[in-house]
Amino acid sequence: MRVLFPLLLVCGIVWAREPVRFRHGMVVAQEQHAAGVGAAVLKSGGNAVDAAVAVALALAVTHPTAGNLGGGGFLLLRTAQGQATFFDFREQAPLAATHDMYLGPDGKPTRDSIEGWRAAGVPGTVRGLELAHSKYGSRDWAELVAPAIKLAAEGYEISYGQARSMAGSKLLAKFPESRRIFQRDGVFIEPGERLYQPELATTLRRIAAGGAKGFYEGETARILAAEMRAHGGLITEEDLKLYRAVERKPLMGGYKGYGVITAPPPSSGGLGLLQILGVLNGTGYETTGFESAQTIHWMAEAMRRYYADRSEYLGDPGFFKVPVKGLLDPRYLDRLRASIDPAHASKSAAVKPGAPRDFEPAETTHFSIVDSAGNAVALTYTINGGYGSGVTVRGLGFLLNNEMDDFAAKPGEPNMFGLVQGESNSVQPRKRPLSSMTPTILVKDGKPFLVVGAPGGSRIITGVAQVVLNMLDFGMNVQDAIDAPRLHHQWMPDTLYLERGFSPDTIALLRARGHTVEQTGSVAVVEAIRVNGAWLEGGTDGRGRGKVAGY
Ligand code: DON
Repeated sequence: MRVLFPLLLVCGIVWAREPVRFRHGMVVAQEQHAAGVGAAVLKSGGNAVDAAVAVALALAVTHPTAGNLGGGGFLLLRTAQGQATFFDFREQAPLAATHDMYLGPDGKPTRDSIEGWRAAGVPGTVRGLELAHSKYGSRDWAELVAPAIKLAAEGYEISYGQARSMAGSKLLAKFPESRRIFQRDGVFIEPGERLYQPELATTLRRIAAGGAKGFYEGETARILAAEMRAHGGLITEEDLKLYRAVERKPLMGGYKGYGVITAPPPSSGGLGLLQILGVLNGTGYETTGFESAQTIHWMAEAMRRYYADRSEYLGDPGFFKVPVKGLLDPRYLDRLRASIDPAHASKSAAVKPGAPRDFEPAETTHFSIVDSAGNAVALTYTINGGYGSGVTVRGLGFLLNNEMDDFAAKPGEPNMFGLVQGESNSVQPRKRPLSSMTPTILVKDGKPFLVVGAPGGSRIITGVAQVVLNMLDFGMNVQDAIDAPRLHHQWMPDTLYLERGFSPDTIALLRARGHTVEQTGSVAVVEAIRVNGAWLEGGTDGRGRGKVAGY
């Protein structure tokens, strides 16, 4: 004890689980075959963008709960030379979408935004990967599609976790083509059995040969539009042909000497991360110690205020003027900070979205990659819920997203993640639904420090924020920062969610401050790489099935 005590004082942390280390290149992804595909691309001299394309396409085969051709997402890149850029390939509402399309005759939201053909937005993944590759890739496109084709055509062994995940999906069991692919004789594929996806292999071969055109035009587009028509869905050949990925400027901020590069709208994630960090900065919240009731209180109050703002001010910037500068203005952050009572929980009903304009001048998956040159990619993409809408398109072999549920089907009413959202995020043709995905890269002294992101719906933002805070304010290594129990508050419902692992004494203290505390399942599933001098350190999240591969 005499030896340990001073050590504890220095580190502040008792436990340590070592991250996985490689020297040259690393992929941290949520499925092992796909992580291996990415590491092989890096080892053979491909760069981080090449590896990202290969991993994303491989995940579409080996991680059907979230990996996709039929969804969308965001790719954040920071090059070794220090340029940062962001590829937005979020889904878009079809041309025929309408404001009230998810309201029933009683005026209440239906389940149409969650399951079946009408839940799908126009997919963006293939266009997004192609755009990033055309600008920053170094390897031949077809070469990067090849591993995914092989995995689809030759099959791969289903893991225990995957088998359990499929068996747990009521949605997947509802649609005949999904059943045909993922079940044998009415039972989902068992661990150790091989999953073969010949139709998906054919769809991928068209992508290998024709690039994004091989998906958005021609045979694939024709089949997808015909199946949509036959089942009452909205996506047409015109929707597919019109879809464009967009290259955007990432949001840039800072926290305690680190640069933070993160996701701009139509993600709400980057703004959330920067606002939460900005409100906490200067409170001294961390001085009462990791996981103390006082620390948790400050974090929860900062989170509560951001989600109130999110409900009002965030949406597709092509349709709604998001007050980005106002939401991050230091004077606005001062005002939010000052509204927090250190001793008492606020009531969400009394916390209204702030007035940032006063300051305004005018089941997802994530992977992180760093290559040997120091290029870094954080990519989060999704079909929204696990297995998306549940629908696999006959003849094409891929699952369609249910991203339309990320819109406010009825402004003011909660969606699948309990998020209450406003008119800024209502359904409109060609609009992108607001996302919480938060691919982020931290920079220290001009070098990448952390490449991070997560699935987890509305909890992505708070999950990523806590891993950053655990590393920067509590001195944890990347693995410990991910392992530590997490909290979540999203304004509405007015509940402080705590994962397992918080002490009953702490919970009692939080309740005494007026928080409604509930125990919850995972707050996001974070996958991250820390660049630590000559070493790449991979942290995977035990809440999911993360794997590190590298060389
Ligand atoms: O874009 C979003 O915010 C959601 N569609 C993300 C969904 C998600 O993370 C589900 N996975 N756990």
